Amino acid sequence: MCLECPTSSCNIGLSETDRNEIVAHLSKLLASEYVFFTKAYKYHWNVRSPFFAQLHELFEKTYNAHFASVDEFAERIRMLGHEAPGTLAEFLELSLIEEAPGMNPGECFMIADLLNDLEAMIQHMRTDLIEIEKLDPVSADLLIGKMKEYEKEAWILRAHLEFVEDDNEDFEEELFVEEKKPAKKKTKK
Ligand SMILES: [Fe+2]
Repeated sequence: MCLECPTSSCNIGLSETDRNEIVAHLSKLLASEYVFFTKAYKYHWNVRSPFFAQLHELFEKTYNAHFASVDEFAERIRMLGHEAPGTLAEFLELSLIEEAPGMNPGECFMIADLLNDLEAMIQHMRTDLIEIEKLDPVSADLLIGKMKEYEKEAWILRAHLEFVEDDNEDFEEELFVEEKKPAKKKTKK
């Protein structure tokens, strides 16, 4: 850039105030996407199950979908004239969902955890959409597209748990109890 370069301000028919408000929503969604992507990636690596191949692939599809979403939200933020947050510290600060460090849960807990986070993100998007729709149909369209994708993902994850729940009414309670059990010690022969 030289001093003679023309202005590079964002002039797309949205006021600075409106763009700031939209970007505030999108930044939280971007950060949440990154945290969710990371969690699905970890579960892809660490799942242990008789259905390993199926779940390994399911989690791979999940993290790939959300890795793509990270880019879409970040690029939308740039189109609105802002810089996208892009460090792990920023993502953890802005994220609407939480990490679960130090845990390598069982397969059902992994699915339940991803489902809970996904439903939380859908709920946030539905609320954000009320404000964003009033300001910018293009950003609103991005959210609607993501909500469509995620409601389908949530259905697929939920279907895995419905099968388990049919067999066990105390499923959730036992699920969390199981997580707290200490690892079995190997006995010397
Ligand atoms: Fe892999």
